[in-house]
Amino acid sequence: MTKLLVTGASGFVGGAALNRIIASDFPGLDISVFLRRDSQVAPILAKYPGKVTAKVGKAGYTDPVFADLVKQADIVLHAGHSADETSPIDVFTENLKDGALLIHTSGTYILTDFTELDKPTSRVYDDEQDIKLLTSWPIDHPHRNVESKVLNIHKLKPAVNSIIVSPPIVYGISTGPISRTSKQIPKLPEIADKVKANRLFGTGLANWSNIHINDLADFFEILLATYLQDPSKLSFNDQGYYFVEGGEHVWKKLISALDEPLVKYKVIDSQHTSEKLPSWTLAELSEVFGAQDAHQFYEVYRSSSRSKATKARKLGWQPKEKDIYSTLDETVNVYLNGLSD
Ligand SMILES: NC(=O)c1ccc[n+]([C@@H]2O[C@H](COP(=O)([O-])OP(=O)(O)OC[C@H]3O[C@@H](n4cnc5c(N)ncnc54)[C@H](OP(=O)(O)O)[C@@H]3O)[C@@H](O)[C@H]2O)c1
Repeated sequence: MTKLLVTGASGFVGGAALNRIIASDFPGLDISVFLRRDSQVAPILAKYPGKVTAKVGKAGYTDPVFADLVKQADIVLHAGHSADETSPIDVFTENLKDGALLIHTSGTYILTDFTELDKPTSRVYDDEQDIKLLTSWPIDHPHRNVESKVLNIHKLKPAVNSIIVSPPIVYGISTGPISRTSKQIPKLPEIADKVKANRLFGTGLANWSNIHINDLADFFEILLATYLQDPSKLSFNDQGYYFVEGGEHVWKKLISALDEPLVKYKVIDSQHTSEKLPSWTLAELSEVFGAQDAHQFYEVYRSSSRSKATKARKLGWQPKEKDIYSTLDETVNVYLNGLSD
């Protein structure tokens, strides 16, 4: 049996990955998930009877339960607060056994140039052509502190390999067992609801790549299938950086496209659309949301990040889902009414 450990299975991305991998029914794969809440065990076991084992460590990644699971794993799919938390990487470094693989989920916020906020970028980073750059960013880039620790594992333990999967903005509804919505796009109707107005952040001209959660889950499935069948087709460690993107958006177009469902579902009235109102200033945002959230919104929704998933496509992966704009009605509806299934 090959032991697969999944983190973040109660989350948006890890849940979708788990769901897809269980549906694939890989022969000889023994799947366990690491959780930090007892209440999540029953729903996960009920959704996948006999297909998964769940272990709880209430202290999170510093819990000895986690280190024990890591010691036993042949493959870890790490998607639980993975891009920003270093403590689980220390546990992997210490406890992964020879021959093990870490699939680490990061994010393409690492590509953002913070001196160019509010501007569209023409720079598209390619995970094949730009591989040297992608694995050597200065430490002040978001996620780089964690990624450098991931890349260091193989240097310290040459018999352990890693792959970094770096998605852009992920949209759509996850098929995962617990949390099924993301933060970035669903946050926009939440902000609009709070002030009963939909407004741009800055010029709105900045641009991002994006990926539907189902297409991202497809990629995790293909990655795992390829590793189990023929790992020589994959790149690892300093070469093993994989983007996964299916489309692009410009913030102005996206926030404008939200006007319609926000008015339709009566979150805002037709006088308070992004077409009719000026952009947020940071001072206004801070007054409503507090300095920390305001700063985050003002940065993310004015940032650019464009990536090209050349390596994933060479493995036969293709994005198949609808574009981000076509999911906005559902995003607003789910924000207001929750999920119906
Ligand atoms: N969503 C996106 O658009 C997007 C885009 C690019 C990259 N990413 C990256 O993908 C990863 C997953 O994101 P997500 O959207 O799935 O986030 P999410 O829905 O907030 O899920 C986070 C998951 O991490 C678990 N977790 C958090 N802290 C933990 C700890 N200390 N110990 C154990 N488990 C912990 C949570 O468990 P609980 O249920 O106990 O809270 C939950 O299962 C993140 O690294 C994120 O940065 C996401």
